[in-house]
Amino acid sequence: MPNTTLEERLQELKRQRNAVILAHNYQRGEVQDAADYTGDSLGLSQQAAATDADVILFCGVHFMAETAAILCPDKTVLIPDPCAGCPMANMITARELLEAKAKHPDAVVVTYVNSTAEIKALSDLCCTSANAVKVVASIPAGRQVLFVPDQSLGGYAARQLGRELILWPGYCPTHHRIRAKDVLELKAQHPDAAFICHPECTTDVVDLADVVASTSGMIKWCKDADAATIIVGTEIGLLHGLRKDSPAKTFLPVSDLADCPNMKLNTIEKMVWALEDMQFPVTVPPAVAAAARHSIDRMLELA
Ligand code: 13P
Ligand code: SF4
Repeated sequence: MPNTTLEERLQELKRQRNAVILAHNYQRGEVQDAADYTGDSLGLSQQAAATDADVILFCGVHFMAETAAILCPDKTVLIPDPCAGCPMANMITARELLEAKAKHPDAVVVTYVNSTAEIKALSDLCCTSANAVKVVASIPAGRQVLFVPDQSLGGYAARQLGRELILWPGYCPTHHRIRAKDVLELKAQHPDAAFICHPECTTDVVDLADVVASTSGMIKWCKDADAATIIVGTEIGLLHGLRKDSPAKTFLPVSDLADCPNMKLNTIEKMVWALEDMQFPVTVPPAVAAAARHSIDRMLELA
């Protein structure tokens, strides 16, 4: 079929394999456009849990595909590029978490979904950026909370709830490239613009925001907002979905450097190869998956 485009070949393979394509909001524009569902970490987990496809082609980073594998043990979960990891997820090891738990034996461990299955398996509750505040709020006020691995999201939840949390010092290298001084400069140039950001940003950036939300939360807020110009404090892949959903609005990224190199490793070519060769499967050992699932299910019940 010499004239078949990569997109057409992908759709053909999708039908042959009975596959569903899930893509995170930070993926390349063409990857998002080829997906059946594009969303934030919470939405993607819910889609994975609900699908009746045999194969999930997960275009995101490794922990997201791993979460899908935990939720769907009877399905084949593929990631187009096995090197697409999340540096924040690697900022805490199982040994470090066990040491922290021994130091704070009474603490409830709340783990951001941007973590390995092993870390989730050692946790009481999981959360995403969309529900971190709600998840922490569900823990009785008198109980200590150990929040891992993102100090920025944990700090945001703590400030929202007026509650002290024990924070693990992990962070997102991409979101920490977004600086308050650049936000202030853009706000001065566009005084009527709104400013939105992701809770993985540093506190000084979050303090400047009109709204702090998950990636899908930001897309929804912008669609409903009155502001004609919106300054965006998150990974630049979100601009694709923002511009697609709100074509009449102007979106200004705070920094073009806020580009997650891992998210961008997945391409249309690699998606085609993944479905042709059934590469690269993401699996979790059953005992780890069962323990991790408990913390994810507790989060999904709250969501
Ligand atoms: P969301 O769950 O808000 O999409 O965030 C995932 C992520 O990796 C942000 O850096
Ligand atoms: Fe991880 Fe940050 Fe990339 Fe999200 S943007 S996947 S938190 S490195």
